[in-house]
Amino acid sequence: MARPTTIHVCSACGHSTPRWQGKCPGCDAWNTLVEEARPAAASGSSGRAGVARAARPRPLSEVDTAPVPRLSTGIGELDRVLGGGIVPGSLVLLGGSPGIGKSTLTNMALGNLAGAGRRTLYVSGEESAAQIKLRAERLGAGALAVPVVAETDVDTVIATLEAERPEVCVIDSVQTLHAAELTGAPGSVGQVREVASRIMRVAKAHAIAVVLVGHVTKEGSLAGPRVLEHLVDCVLQFEGERERTYRTLRALKNRFGSTSEAGVFEMRSGGLVEVLDASARFVGEATRAPGSVVLAAMEGSRPLLVEVQALVSPSELVPPRRVVNGLDRNRLALVLAVLGRHAGVGVGTADVFVNVVGGVRIDEPGADLAVALAVAGAARGVALEQPDRPLAAFGEVGLTGELRSVGHPERRIEEAAKFGLRTVVAPPGSGGLEARTLREALKAAFGGGERRPRAA
Ligand code: TYD
Ligand code: MG
Repeated sequence: MARPTTIHVCSACGHSTPRWQGKCPGCDAWNTLVEEARPAAASGSSGRAGVARAARPRPLSEVDTAPVPRLSTGIGELDRVLGGGIVPGSLVLLGGSPGIGKSTLTNMALGNLAGAGRRTLYVSGEESAAQIKLRAERLGAGALAVPVVAETDVDTVIATLEAERPEVCVIDSVQTLHAAELTGAPGSVGQVREVASRIMRVAKAHAIAVVLVGHVTKEGSLAGPRVLEHLVDCVLQFEGERERTYRTLRALKNRFGSTSEAGVFEMRSGGLVEVLDASARFVGEATRAPGSVVLAAMEGSRPLLVEVQALVSPSELVPPRRVVNGLDRNRLALVLAVLGRHAGVGVGTADVFVNVVGGVRIDEPGADLAVALAVAGAARGVALEQPDRPLAAFGEVGLTGELRSVGHPERRIEEAAKFGLRTVVAPPGSGGLEARTLREALKAAFGGGERRPRAA
Protein backbone atom coordinates (compact mmCIF):
# COMPACT_ATOMS: atom_id res chain seq x y z
CA MET A 1 0.00 0.00 0.00
CA ALA A 2 1.31 3.48 -0.81
CA ARG A 3 2.70 5.43 2.11
CA PRO A 4 0.40 8.34 2.95
CA THR A 5 1.93 11.69 2.02
CA THR A 6 0.61 13.48 5.07
CA ILE A 7 0.72 13.17 8.84
CA HIS A 8 -1.43 14.73 11.51
CA VAL A 9 0.46 16.71 14.12
CA CYS A 10 -0.98 17.91 17.42
CA SER A 11 -0.70 21.69 17.63
CA ALA A 12 -0.51 21.50 21.43
CA CYS A 13 2.08 18.77 22.12
CA GLY A 14 3.59 17.94 18.71
CA HIS A 15 2.55 14.28 18.78
CA SER A 16 2.08 12.92 15.24
CA THR A 17 -0.25 10.22 13.98
CA PRO A 18 -0.80 8.92 10.45
CA ARG A 19 -4.57 9.38 10.65
CA TRP A 20 -6.81 12.14 11.95
CA GLN A 21 -8.34 11.58 15.37
CA GLY A 22 -10.61 13.73 17.47
CA LYS A 23 -8.45 13.36 20.57
CA CYS A 24 -4.66 13.59 20.55
CA PRO A 25 -3.18 10.29 21.82
CA GLY A 26 -0.20 12.24 23.15
CA CYS A 27 -1.84 14.86 25.38
CA ASP A 28 -5.56 13.97 25.27
CA ALA A 29 -6.48 17.41 23.92
CA TRP A 30 -9.48 17.53 21.60
CA ASN A 31 -9.43 18.87 18.02
CA THR A 32 -5.76 19.77 17.99
CA LEU A 33 -4.54 17.43 15.22
CA VAL A 34 -3.70 19.35 12.06
CA GLU A 35 -2.78 17.76 8.76
CA GLU A 36 0.71 18.49 7.43
CA ALA A 37 2.75 17.30 4.49
CA ARG A 38 5.04 14.44 5.55
CA PRO A 39 8.59 15.80 5.80
CA ALA A 40 10.74 14.38 2.97
CA ALA A 41 13.44 11.84 3.95
CA ALA A 42 12.83 12.25 7.65
CA SER A 43 14.97 9.20 8.46
CA GLY A 44 18.19 10.46 6.86
CA SER A 45 18.20 13.87 8.50
CA SER A 46 20.37 12.89 11.47
CA GLY A 47 23.35 12.55 9.11
CA ARG A 48 23.45 16.33 8.55
CA ALA A 49 24.92 17.06 11.93
CA GLY A 50 28.47 16.29 10.79
CA VAL A 51 28.12 18.35 7.57
CA ALA A 52 26.72 21.58 9.01
CA ARG A 53 29.22 24.35 9.74
CA ALA A 54 28.88 26.61 12.72
CA ALA A 55 27.67 30.11 11.83
CA ARG A 56 29.73 33.12 12.94
CA PRO A 57 27.71 35.48 15.12
CA ARG A 58 28.22 39.20 14.40
CA PRO A 59 27.57 42.16 16.66
CA LEU A 60 24.48 44.03 15.45
CA SER A 61 26.57 47.19 15.11
CA GLU A 62 28.49 45.55 12.24
CA VAL A 63 25.41 44.43 10.34
CA ASP A 64 24.84 46.50 7.17
CA THR A 65 21.39 47.89 6.62
CA ALA A 66 20.07 49.56 3.54
CA PRO A 67 17.01 51.81 3.66
CA VAL A 68 13.96 49.66 2.91
CA PRO A 69 12.73 50.44 -0.61
CA ARG A 70 8.99 50.87 -1.02
CA LEU A 71 6.49 50.45 -3.81
CA SER A 72 3.73 53.02 -3.60
CA THR A 73 0.25 51.56 -4.09
CA GLY A 74 -1.08 54.95 -5.15
CA ILE A 75 -3.58 54.79 -2.27
CA GLY A 76 -2.29 57.19 0.36
CA GLU A 77 -4.09 55.64 3.32
CA LEU A 78 -2.93 52.13 2.41
CA ASP A 79 0.67 53.28 1.98
CA ARG A 80 0.58 54.99 5.34
CA VAL A 81 -0.75 51.92 7.15
CA LEU A 82 1.92 49.79 5.46
CA GLY A 83 4.55 52.22 6.74
CA GLY A 84 5.20 54.01 3.44
CA GLY A 85 4.26 51.49 0.77
CA ILE A 86 4.75 47.79 0.01
CA VAL A 87 8.23 46.45 0.77
CA PRO A 88 9.53 44.33 -2.15
CA GLY A 89 9.60 40.65 -1.23
CA SER A 90 7.42 41.12 1.84
CA LEU A 91 4.41 39.04 2.76
CA VAL A 92 1.27 40.94 3.79
CA LEU A 93 -1.87 39.35 5.18
CA LEU A 94 -5.04 41.37 4.59
CA GLY A 95 -7.85 40.08 6.78
CA GLY A 96 -11.46 41.13 6.96
CA SER A 97 -14.98 39.79 6.94
CA PRO A 98 -16.56 38.89 3.60
CA GLY A 99 -17.91 41.80 1.58
CA ILE A 100 -15.90 44.44 3.39
CA GLY A 101 -13.93 45.39 0.26
CA LYS A 102 -10.69 43.41 0.34
CA SER A 103 -10.88 42.48 -3.33
CA THR A 104 -11.77 46.05 -4.22
CA LEU A 105 -8.84 47.48 -2.28
CA THR A 106 -6.30 45.03 -3.70
CA ASN A 107 -7.65 45.47 -7.22
CA MET A 108 -7.26 49.22 -6.95
CA ALA A 109 -3.75 48.95 -5.51
CA LEU A 110 -2.60 46.58 -8.25
CA GLY A 111 -4.19 48.81 -10.87
CA ASN A 112 -2.19 51.78 -9.61
CA LEU A 113 1.01 49.74 -9.45
CA ALA A 114 0.46 48.44 -12.97
CA GLY A 115 -0.18 52.00 -14.10
CA ALA A 116 3.16 53.00 -12.57
CA GLY A 117 4.89 50.38 -14.72
CA ARG A 118 5.22 47.61 -12.12
CA ARG A 119 4.72 43.96 -13.00
CA THR A 120 1.66 42.75 -11.11
CA LEU A 121 -0.43 39.59 -10.85
CA TYR A 122 -3.86 39.00 -9.36
CA VAL A 123 -4.62 35.39 -8.44
CA SER A 124 -8.25 34.75 -7.61
CA GLY A 125 -9.57 31.50 -6.24
CA GLU A 126 -12.99 32.97 -5.56
CA GLU A 127 -14.06 34.67 -8.73
CA SER A 128 -13.75 33.95 -12.43
CA ALA A 129 -11.73 36.28 -14.65
CA ALA A 130 -15.02 37.65 -16.01
CA GLN A 131 -16.26 38.53 -12.51
CA ILE A 132 -12.98 40.26 -11.71
CA LYS A 133 -13.29 42.24 -14.90
CA LEU A 134 -16.80 43.39 -13.98
CA ARG A 135 -15.45 44.82 -10.74
CA ALA A 136 -12.38 46.31 -12.41
CA GLU A 137 -14.66 48.15 -14.84
CA ARG A 138 -16.20 49.96 -11.89
CA LEU A 139 -12.76 50.89 -10.60
CA GLY A 140 -11.48 52.67 -13.68
CA ALA A 141 -8.94 52.14 -16.42
CA GLY A 142 -5.91 51.29 -14.26
CA ALA A 143 -7.55 48.21 -12.75
CA LEU A 144 -8.16 46.74 -16.19
CA ALA A 145 -4.41 46.63 -16.87
CA VAL A 146 -3.78 43.99 -14.18
CA PRO A 147 -3.08 40.44 -15.41
CA VAL A 148 -5.33 37.90 -13.64
CA VAL A 149 -5.32 34.16 -13.09
CA ALA A 150 -8.34 32.31 -11.71
CA GLU A 151 -6.81 29.29 -10.03
CA THR A 152 -7.13 27.28 -6.83
CA ASP A 153 -4.27 24.79 -7.13
CA VAL A 154 -1.24 26.05 -5.25
CA ASP A 155 1.26 24.23 -7.48
CA THR A 156 -0.13 25.99 -10.54
CA VAL A 157 -0.03 29.31 -8.72
CA ILE A 158 3.60 28.78 -7.75
CA ALA A 159 4.57 27.74 -11.28
CA THR A 160 2.84 30.89 -12.55
CA LEU A 161 4.70 33.06 -10.05
CA GLU A 162 8.01 31.54 -11.13
CA ALA A 163 7.22 32.04 -14.80
CA GLU A 164 5.81 35.57 -14.51
CA ARG A 165 8.03 36.90 -11.70
CA PRO A 166 5.70 39.78 -10.82
CA GLU A 167 6.90 42.45 -8.40
CA VAL A 168 3.60 42.46 -6.54
CA CYS A 169 1.09 39.64 -6.42
CA VAL A 170 -2.28 39.37 -4.69
CA ILE A 171 -3.68 35.97 -3.67
CA ASP A 172 -7.45 36.33 -3.19
CA SER A 173 -7.99 34.43 -0.99
CA VAL A 174 -5.53 32.17 0.79
CA GLN A 175 -8.44 30.04 2.00
CA THR A 176 -9.46 29.01 -1.49
CA LEU A 177 -6.07 27.65 -2.56
CA HIS A 178 -5.35 24.02 -1.90
CA ALA A 179 -2.32 21.77 -1.90
CA ALA A 180 -3.04 18.46 -3.59
CA GLU A 181 -1.03 16.32 -1.13
CA LEU A 182 -3.15 17.29 1.86
CA THR A 183 -6.55 15.69 2.16
CA GLY A 184 -8.05 18.52 4.24
CA ALA A 185 -10.56 20.86 2.67
CA PRO A 186 -9.33 24.25 1.36
CA GLY A 187 -9.40 26.73 4.21
CA SER A 188 -8.58 24.17 6.91
CA VAL A 189 -5.70 25.04 9.23
CA GLY A 190 -3.34 22.52 7.65
CA GLN A 191 -4.11 23.65 4.09
CA VAL A 192 -3.83 27.36 4.84
CA ARG A 193 -0.52 26.92 6.62
CA GLU A 194 0.94 24.72 3.88
CA VAL A 195 -0.24 26.98 1.05
CA ALA A 196 1.08 30.12 2.73
CA SER A 197 4.47 28.70 3.60
CA ARG A 198 4.95 27.40 0.07
CA ILE A 199 4.03 30.75 -1.44
CA MET A 200 6.32 32.45 1.04
CA ARG A 201 9.32 30.39 -0.10
CA VAL A 202 8.79 31.37 -3.74
CA ALA A 203 8.09 34.98 -2.84
CA LYS A 204 11.26 35.35 -0.79
CA ALA A 205 13.35 33.56 -3.44
CA HIS A 206 12.25 35.94 -6.21
CA ALA A 207 11.59 39.08 -4.16
CA ILE A 208 7.88 39.05 -5.01
CA ALA A 209 5.76 41.11 -2.64
CA VAL A 210 2.67 39.03 -1.89
CA VAL A 211 -0.60 40.19 -0.39
CA LEU A 212 -2.53 37.23 0.99
CA VAL A 213 -6.22 38.02 1.37
CA GLY A 214 -7.97 36.12 4.15
CA HIS A 215 -11.53 36.05 5.44
CA VAL A 216 -12.06 36.50 9.13
CA THR A 217 -15.48 36.04 10.64
CA LYS A 218 -17.00 38.66 12.91
CA GLU A 219 -15.66 36.85 15.97
CA GLY A 220 -12.23 36.50 14.34
CA SER A 221 -12.61 32.83 15.11
CA LEU A 222 -12.11 31.23 11.71
CA ALA A 223 -8.95 29.16 11.95
CA GLY A 224 -7.59 30.23 8.57
CA PRO A 225 -5.75 33.56 8.60
CA ARG A 226 -5.05 33.72 12.32
CA VAL A 227 -2.57 30.83 12.06
CA LEU A 228 -0.57 32.84 9.53
CA GLU A 229 0.04 35.87 11.68
CA HIS A 230 3.46 34.76 12.86
CA LEU A 231 4.54 33.82 9.35
CA VAL A 232 3.90 37.08 7.51
CA ASP A 233 5.69 40.45 7.77
CA CYS A 234 2.59 42.52 8.07
CA VAL A 235 -0.99 41.85 9.15
CA LEU A 236 -3.62 44.33 8.01
CA GLN A 237 -7.18 44.25 9.21
CA PHE A 238 -9.96 45.78 7.16
CA GLU A 239 -12.93 46.54 9.39
CA GLY A 240 -16.30 48.18 9.34
CA GLU A 241 -19.85 47.11 8.88
CA ARG A 242 -20.93 45.92 5.53
CA GLU A 243 -24.14 47.92 5.61
CA ARG A 244 -22.27 51.13 6.39
CA THR A 245 -19.99 52.92 4.01
CA TYR A 246 -17.04 53.67 6.28
CA ARG A 247 -14.14 51.23 6.57
CA THR A 248 -10.99 51.37 8.65
CA LEU A 249 -7.74 49.71 7.71
CA ARG A 250 -5.42 48.95 10.58
CA ALA A 251 -2.03 47.27 10.94
CA LEU A 252 -2.02 44.61 13.67
CA LYS A 253 1.58 43.67 13.02
CA ASN A 254 4.17 45.38 10.86
CA ARG A 255 7.83 44.46 10.62
CA PHE A 256 8.51 47.56 8.50
CA GLY A 257 6.47 50.22 10.21
CA SER A 258 4.25 51.28 13.07
CA THR A 259 1.19 49.31 14.07
CA SER A 260 -0.63 52.33 15.36
CA GLU A 261 -1.57 53.74 11.96
CA ALA A 262 -5.08 53.46 10.59
CA GLY A 263 -6.69 54.59 7.37
CA VAL A 264 -10.33 55.50 6.81
CA PHE A 265 -12.10 54.66 3.55
CA GLU A 266 -15.57 55.06 2.18
CA MET A 267 -17.14 52.52 -0.20
CA ARG A 268 -18.66 54.32 -3.15
CA SER A 269 -20.00 53.15 -6.48
CA GLY A 270 -16.56 53.65 -8.04
CA GLY A 271 -14.62 51.76 -5.40
CA LEU A 272 -13.00 52.78 -2.13
CA VAL A 273 -12.30 56.46 -1.58
CA GLU A 274 -9.90 57.70 1.06
CA VAL A 275 -11.58 59.79 3.72
CA LEU A 276 -9.13 62.49 4.67
CA ASP A 277 -11.61 64.76 6.43
CA ALA A 278 -13.17 62.03 8.57
CA SER A 279 -13.47 64.30 11.62
CA ALA A 280 -15.42 66.92 9.71
CA ARG A 281 -17.95 64.35 8.52
CA PHE A 282 -18.48 62.66 11.84
CA VAL A 283 -18.79 65.91 13.76
CA GLY A 284 -21.04 67.46 11.13
CA GLU A 285 -23.46 64.57 11.66
CA ALA A 286 -23.41 64.78 15.47
CA THR A 287 -26.87 65.39 16.96
CA ARG A 288 -25.98 67.15 20.23
CA ALA A 289 -29.01 65.54 21.90
CA PRO A 290 -28.83 63.90 25.35
CA GLY A 291 -26.77 60.76 24.99
CA SER A 292 -24.51 62.15 22.30
CA VAL A 293 -20.90 63.11 22.95
CA VAL A 294 -18.04 63.73 20.55
CA LEU A 295 -15.00 61.59 21.28
CA ALA A 296 -11.60 63.04 20.44
CA ALA A 297 -9.88 59.79 19.56
CA MET A 298 -6.52 58.94 18.09
CA GLU A 299 -6.29 56.65 15.08
CA GLY A 300 -2.61 55.86 15.15
CA SER A 301 -0.77 59.14 14.80
CA ARG A 302 -3.86 60.96 13.58
CA PRO A 303 -6.59 62.53 15.68
CA LEU A 304 -10.13 61.61 14.74
CA LEU A 305 -13.38 63.01 16.08
CA VAL A 306 -16.31 60.61 16.23
CA GLU A 307 -19.75 60.82 17.77
CA VAL A 308 -20.56 58.34 20.54
CA GLN A 309 -24.28 57.81 21.13
CA ALA A 310 -25.95 56.03 24.00
CA LEU A 311 -29.50 54.98 24.69
CA VAL A 312 -30.64 53.81 28.12
CA SER A 313 -34.11 52.33 28.39
CA PRO A 314 -35.95 50.27 31.01
CA SER A 315 -35.55 46.57 30.42
CA GLU A 316 -37.78 43.54 30.86
CA LEU A 317 -34.81 41.25 30.59
CA VAL A 318 -32.62 39.79 33.30
CA PRO A 319 -29.78 40.42 32.76
CA PRO A 320 -30.53 43.55 30.71
CA ARG A 321 -29.11 44.07 27.25
CA ARG A 322 -25.69 45.60 26.63
CA VAL A 323 -25.38 46.27 22.94
CA VAL A 324 -22.28 47.98 21.67
CA ASN A 325 -21.14 48.90 18.18
CA GLY A 326 -17.64 50.05 17.34
CA LEU A 327 -16.26 49.67 20.87
CA ASP A 328 -15.06 46.88 23.10
CA ARG A 329 -17.90 45.24 25.08
CA ASN A 330 -15.75 44.62 28.14
CA ARG A 331 -14.69 48.25 28.20
CA LEU A 332 -18.38 49.26 28.26
CA ALA A 333 -19.02 46.87 31.15
CA LEU A 334 -16.16 48.51 33.06
CA VAL A 335 -17.41 52.03 32.36
CA LEU A 336 -20.95 51.10 33.45
CA ALA A 337 -19.63 49.57 36.67
CA VAL A 338 -17.57 52.66 37.49
CA LEU A 339 -20.51 54.96 36.64
CA GLY A 340 -22.71 53.05 39.07
CA ARG A 341 -20.20 52.71 41.86
CA HIS A 342 -18.38 56.05 41.80
CA ALA A 343 -20.57 58.53 39.96
CA GLY A 344 -24.08 57.69 41.10
CA VAL A 345 -25.35 56.74 37.65
CA GLY A 346 -26.80 53.27 38.02
CA VAL A 347 -28.09 51.49 34.94
CA GLY A 348 -28.37 48.03 36.50
CA THR A 349 -31.95 47.36 35.37
CA ALA A 350 -31.86 49.18 32.03
CA ASP A 351 -30.86 48.15 28.56
CA VAL A 352 -27.81 50.10 27.39
CA PHE A 353 -27.00 50.64 23.75
CA VAL A 354 -23.79 52.40 22.75
CA ASN A 355 -22.84 53.16 19.20
CA VAL A 356 -19.92 54.84 17.47
CA VAL A 357 -21.66 56.63 14.62
CA GLY A 358 -20.49 56.00 11.08
CA GLY A 359 -19.46 52.39 11.59
CA VAL A 360 -15.86 53.09 12.58
CA ARG A 361 -14.29 51.07 15.34
CA ILE A 362 -12.40 52.75 18.17
CA ASP A 363 -9.92 50.60 20.02
CA GLU A 364 -8.34 52.74 22.67
CA PRO A 365 -8.87 53.37 26.39
CA GLY A 366 -9.25 57.10 25.65
CA ALA A 367 -12.83 56.34 24.60
CA ASP A 368 -13.97 55.57 28.17
CA LEU A 369 -14.88 59.09 29.25
CA ALA A 370 -16.93 59.87 26.15
CA VAL A 371 -18.83 56.60 26.62
CA ALA A 372 -19.43 57.41 30.28
CA LEU A 373 -20.73 60.92 29.47
CA ALA A 374 -22.96 59.62 26.70
CA VAL A 375 -24.46 56.92 28.95
CA ALA A 376 -24.89 59.35 31.85
CA GLY A 377 -26.56 61.90 29.58
CA ALA A 378 -28.89 59.25 28.21
CA ALA A 379 -29.68 57.80 31.64
CA ARG A 380 -30.56 61.18 33.11
CA GLY A 381 -32.17 62.54 29.99
CA VAL A 382 -30.08 65.63 30.54
CA ALA A 383 -28.64 67.60 27.68
CA LEU A 384 -25.18 69.06 27.98
CA GLU A 385 -24.87 72.26 29.95
CA GLN A 386 -24.44 74.46 26.92
CA PRO A 387 -26.25 72.62 24.16
CA ASP A 388 -25.30 75.29 21.63
CA ARG A 389 -21.65 74.60 22.33
CA PRO A 390 -21.06 70.96 21.55
CA LEU A 391 -18.84 69.04 23.88
CA ALA A 392 -15.97 66.70 23.25
CA ALA A 393 -14.22 64.37 25.66
CA PHE A 394 -11.42 61.87 25.95
CA GLY A 395 -9.69 60.01 28.77
CA GLU A 396 -9.41 56.63 30.38
CA VAL A 397 -11.66 55.77 33.33
CA GLY A 398 -9.89 54.00 36.18
CA LEU A 399 -11.50 51.44 38.46
CA THR A 400 -11.64 53.83 41.39
CA GLY A 401 -13.48 56.47 39.38
CA GLU A 402 -10.41 58.55 38.58
CA LEU A 403 -9.61 59.85 35.10
CA ARG A 404 -6.30 58.77 33.65
CA SER A 405 -4.36 60.54 30.96
CA VAL A 406 -3.99 59.03 27.49
CA GLY A 407 -1.61 59.71 24.60
CA HIS A 408 -1.44 62.94 22.56
CA PRO A 409 -3.83 65.14 24.58
CA GLU A 410 -2.71 68.32 22.78
CA ARG A 411 -3.40 66.89 19.33
CA ARG A 412 -6.86 65.75 20.37
CA ILE A 413 -7.71 69.17 21.74
CA GLU A 414 -6.34 70.88 18.64
CA GLU A 415 -8.45 68.68 16.40
CA ALA A 416 -11.56 69.43 18.46
CA ALA A 417 -10.82 73.17 18.29
CA LYS A 418 -10.42 72.91 14.53
CA PHE A 419 -14.05 71.84 14.31
CA GLY A 420 -15.39 74.40 16.73
CA LEU A 421 -15.52 72.18 19.82
CA ARG A 422 -14.02 74.52 22.38
CA THR A 423 -15.02 72.54 25.47
CA VAL A 424 -13.08 69.30 25.80
CA VAL A 425 -13.50 67.40 29.06
CA ALA A 426 -10.17 65.71 29.69
CA PRO A 427 -8.04 64.08 32.41
CA PRO A 428 -5.70 66.22 34.56
CA GLY A 429 -2.64 67.60 32.81
CA SER A 430 -4.21 67.42 29.36
CA GLY A 431 -5.25 71.03 28.88
CA GLY A 432 -8.91 71.49 28.08
CA LEU A 433 -11.59 71.35 30.76
CA GLU A 434 -9.79 69.16 33.27
CA ALA A 435 -11.51 66.80 35.68
CA ARG A 436 -9.83 64.51 38.16
CA THR A 437 -12.66 62.05 38.58
CA LEU A 438 -15.61 60.81 36.60
CA ARG A 439 -17.91 62.61 39.05
CA GLU A 440 -16.13 65.92 38.33
CA ALA A 441 -16.33 65.25 34.62
CA LEU A 442 -20.10 64.72 34.85
CA LYS A 443 -20.41 67.97 36.73
CA ALA A 444 -18.36 69.81 34.14
CA ALA A 445 -20.46 68.42 31.31
CA PHE A 446 -23.93 68.62 32.82
CA GLY A 447 -23.56 71.44 35.30
CA GLY A 448 -24.80 70.65 38.80
CA GLY A 449 -25.85 67.23 37.64
CA GLU A 450 -29.37 67.74 39.02
CA ARG A 451 -31.91 65.35 37.66
CA ARG A 452 -34.35 66.81 35.25
CA PRO A 453 -37.42 64.86 34.18
CA ARG A 454 -36.67 62.79 31.13
CA ALA A 455 -39.42 64.41 29.08
CA ALA A 456 -38.06 67.92 29.56
P1 TYD B 1 -15.42 43.10 -2.32
O1 TYD B 1 -14.18 43.86 -2.56
O2 TYD B 1 -15.72 42.02 -3.29
O3 TYD B 1 -15.38 42.47 -0.84
P2 TYD B 1 -14.47 41.29 -0.25
O4 TYD B 1 -13.44 40.94 -1.25
O5 TYD B 1 -13.89 41.83 1.02
O6 TYD B 1 -15.39 40.15 0.03
O7 TYD B 1 -16.62 44.14 -2.32
C1 TYD B 1 -17.48 44.35 -1.26
C2 TYD B 1 -18.72 45.11 -1.60
O8 TYD B 1 -18.44 46.38 -2.09
C3 TYD B 1 -19.61 44.44 -2.62
O9 TYD B 1 -20.79 44.06 -1.96
C4 TYD B 1 -19.91 45.46 -3.65
C5 TYD B 1 -19.41 46.75 -3.07
N1 TYD B 1 -18.78 47.62 -4.07
C6 TYD B 1 -19.16 48.95 -4.14
O10 TYD B 1 -20.05 49.41 -3.43
N2 TYD B 1 -18.55 49.77 -5.05
C7 TYD B 1 -17.57 49.33 -5.90
O11 TYD B 1 -17.03 50.09 -6.70
C8 TYD B 1 -17.18 47.96 -5.80
C9 TYD B 1 -16.11 47.41 -6.69
C10 TYD B 1 -17.80 47.15 -4.87
MG1 MG C 1 -13.31 39.19 -2.37
